[in-house]
Amino acid sequence: MEHQINSGNTMQTAHLFSPLAIRNLTLKNRIVLSPMQQYSSVDGFASDWHLVHLGSRAVGGAGLIITECASVHPSARSTTHDIGMWKDEHIEKWQQINAFVHEQGTAVAIQLGHFGSKASRSHPNDGFEYLDEHKNGWQTVSSSPIAPFPGMSIPREVSIEEISGIINEFRNAALRAVKAGFDSIELHFAHGYLVHQFLSKLINQRSDIYGGSFENRTRLGLEIVEAVRQVIPNEMPLFVRISAVDYVESESAWTLEESIQFARFLKEKGVDVITASAGGFSWVDKSKLSEGYQVPLSEAIKAQTGIFTGAVGLITKAHTADDVIKNGNADLVVIAREHLRNPYFAINAGIELGVPVNIPWQYKRAY
Ligand SMILES: Cc1cc2nc3c(=O)[nH]c(=O)nc-3n(C[C@H](O)[C@H](O)[C@H](O)COP(=O)(O)O)c2cc1C
Repeated sequence: MEHQINSGNTMQTAHLFSPLAIRNLTLKNRIVLSPMQQYSSVDGFASDWHLVHLGSRAVGGAGLIITECASVHPSARSTTHDIGMWKDEHIEKWQQINAFVHEQGTAVAIQLGHFGSKASRSHPNDGFEYLDEHKNGWQTVSSSPIAPFPGMSIPREVSIEEISGIINEFRNAALRAVKAGFDSIELHFAHGYLVHQFLSKLINQRSDIYGGSFENRTRLGLEIVEAVRQVIPNEMPLFVRISAVDYVESESAWTLEESIQFARFLKEKGVDVITASAGGFSWVDKSKLSEGYQVPLSEAIKAQTGIFTGAVGLITKAHTADDVIKNGNADLVVIAREHLRNPYFAINAGIELGVPVNIPWQYKRAY
């Protein structure tokens, strides 16, 4: 089925370079920089690295930049080099970065998250080891005292009171994101991090109102959405990234059917876009993955719920990206590692597809 957009008086097929309006935000194209941690922060502050890294992809023509995961509390970080949004002092640098991204005609969202039991690691250059309190790390928390991977230290189960505190941290971080000039927020509920640790029965063994039934396991995510939606402007789009499946062969694994039902609930609570990622509690054999391998996840969620979706995972080619949009598999293509190799992915994709693209005037003599 072809996805149609209404452009002026004529209906035309949506493609990679057609704009997308989400609430009051119009993205100039469907190409999104996927969040990628840079481990280049001190005390949660964005740095000049972030200005250049994100700024380059904006110069490269992406329609939307999503920052790496910004933790809502220092203890929520995967490493002490993660960015954060837990104090007002974090806002100022983002105002500079966001102004630059906006000058390129690109929108910018911040991803907010909590790593739960996957927090407390060393810097990737120091081995990316999980660290307990005896090794300069800290006690991590989760839905239940179950490690995400065998051999990892056991997290502490969060109390109901602590859950309210975490929801509040998301709310306060969202308020700061608005002050920092972000156009949107993406809540990170994927990849085996805290909210996913509540969603999936692989980890969540609670017997209170946050465990057991589907309604209870989805409660934390929905409460975070409610809290965030209350403090951000009505016209600001809200994204949520989920792991649509766990990639674990188990009756306890989170399923695509659950993701679809969760997406319906999220939509009711005011979420506009679901980025359909996957996994977080298993090692995936990357040699078995092929171009666009996760597109069917965004396609199913979009088809069943009508919510906008972003497809992510090994989208590396202009034609794959264009086909995802043309075929109506997703509304956005979310590109991570290819953007590291090729910051000008969007400009190059436009040239390859024969679509006129805006090239920064400073670079025009190269084209
Ligand atoms: C260096 C690196 C850091 C990442 N950090 C994040 C992150 O902060 N938040 C997130 O949701 N995904 C993160 N991811 C996952 C990517 O956003 C993306 O989902 C994944 O790499 C698959 O897309 P790709 O095949 O286009 O790279 C990271 C990936 C990489 C390679």
